[in-house]
Amino acid sequence: MIRFGFGRKFKAPSRREVSRVLSLLGTDSIVLVGMMGCGKSAIGRRLANCLKLKFVDADDEIEKAAGKSITEIFEDHGETEFRDGERKVIARLLNGGPQVLATGGGAFMDPQTRKSIREKGISVWLKADLEVLMRRVSRRDHRPLLKTGNPEAIMSRLMKERYPVYGQAEIIAESREVPHDQIVSEIITQLSGLKDRPANP
Ligand code: S3P
Repeated sequence: MIRFGFGRKFKAPSRREVSRVLSLLGTDSIVLVGMMGCGKSAIGRRLANCLKLKFVDADDEIEKAAGKSITEIFEDHGETEFRDGERKVIARLLNGGPQVLATGGGAFMDPQTRKSIREKGISVWLKADLEVLMRRVSRRDHRPLLKTGNPEAIMSRLMKERYPVYGQAEIIAESREVPHDQIVSEIITQLSGLKDRPANP
């Protein structure tokens, strides 16, 4: 049991849970989906560390492949081209498991990407409320979609459009203001409770 100040406590993942998750995964990926600011990268890194897997961030890989930042891709080519690149990069990355893969907020909205993730991964939606998301996205200003108008109005419109689709993820974890390790532990508990899945060759 790990304790944090003020008596908060949570159960660290057991070795049994960790090995159950790894055997369930085989060569597949744990794929984190959810809104900008829900903690996909920060929680994903810790989750990977806990499972001794590599962590890959799809947005970083898109930037590497394009030789430009996401902002520059949006500015120079527009969102449609960004989404095409995103679909291709994620399809490629899904062949690199086992790993923890964090995807950009719009990736899971693409039907082809959802299909690829279903085939080669276990999707985990990090669900957060608007207040938490706004607090986190306002710390940085590198997200092109939030520069096109009032960020809070944009985030709440995107949440309405996206939450029903994110809801198709295999696992839903509440991302909130608790230590990231607690959320990691909750994800591992949920993953370890999944039924066996057909192994990919
Ligand atoms: C986007 C989210 C961003 C990035 C791009 C578009 C979205 O990633 O892919 O700016 O459509 O929600 P994060 O969710 O990692 O911020």
